[in-house]
Amino acid sequence: MKRMLIAAAAALTLATAPTKAQDYPTRPVTMIVPFAAGGPTDIIARLVAESMSKTLGQQVIIENVAGAGGTTGSTRAAQAAPDGYTILMGHMGTHGAAPGLYKNLKYNPSTDFTPIGLAAGTPIVIVTKKAFPADDTKGFVSYVKANNDKITQAHAGVGSVSFTTCMLLTHQLGVKATAVAYTGTGPALNDLVGGQVDYMCDQLPSVIAQVRAGTVKAISIALPERSPALPNLATTKESGLPEFQVSAWNAVFAPKNLPEPIKAKLADSLSKALDDDKVKARLLDLGAVIPQGKERGPDALAALVKSEVDRWGPILKSVQQ
Ligand code: MLT
Repeated sequence: MKRMLIAAAAALTLATAPTKAQDYPTRPVTMIVPFAAGGPTDIIARLVAESMSKTLGQQVIIENVAGAGGTTGSTRAAQAAPDGYTILMGHMGTHGAAPGLYKNLKYNPSTDFTPIGLAAGTPIVIVTKKAFPADDTKGFVSYVKANNDKITQAHAGVGSVSFTTCMLLTHQLGVKATAVAYTGTGPALNDLVGGQVDYMCDQLPSVIAQVRAGTVKAISIALPERSPALPNLATTKESGLPEFQVSAWNAVFAPKNLPEPIKAKLADSLSKALDDDKVKARLLDLGAVIPQGKERGPDALAALVKSEVDRWGPILKSVQQ
């Protein structure tokens, strides 16, 4: 009798699985943001989540799970049930640089997630407190070299974009600034505005409002061409630091083994968000780069994660020697 009941239960589970996937979502979805509120990951996540809530027909609720440069929240997502009700806004740090910075990372960016799609490309800006005694790249470089034992650089934890990109910068400048860790570059920016830290390398969407307000100083942007969102900001290339060329990206992931129909629904909902006029206008105003066509979708993201892990590994190895 007991065997029959177990067999019936198993058959029922199998029978309902496709229906579950077809009916997905039947309740709110949690999108983990692995940093504190107010940083670029949070800003981009909330923008796309609002639109995804409409197309999915269920609320996509942001949960900030900060710590360890975004790897705490990313680990939480990797270990969640692959049912589509827990997804993650990861990025170049958590799914590109982290393996090169953590010997015992609790997830593999390529195999422990179901890639859903790229959400935004995010240029990197060198920003300083308003009172920093330099206004351009040359002045910044000479001041940092002359005072690197006295100045502080903010970041969002080992493995974050702000940590990784400024690690590259200080290595290229041959200096060692005192690094101050935060739970995200949202809180770090508050201290930069307050003058408690000297500079940081952050994603443009996070700092652009304060740069425009003049409460912090943008020194240069690490792009080959100027950003249309801040056309007056010189690139590192044109202002004497051509070797500092780096940008980041934010992308949506789910735990591995997500059923195909749920993966397809999430990828479609994200893509629709990127085509939503309100979201598009806001992302562009924030200086983000919106992925187009072939850059979108699970396969493109899987390829990006692999290439980024392969790219950052050797860079970080040489920088940490
Ligand atoms: C954030 O959202 O706070 C940033 O992505 C942190 C970082 O990666 O530097």
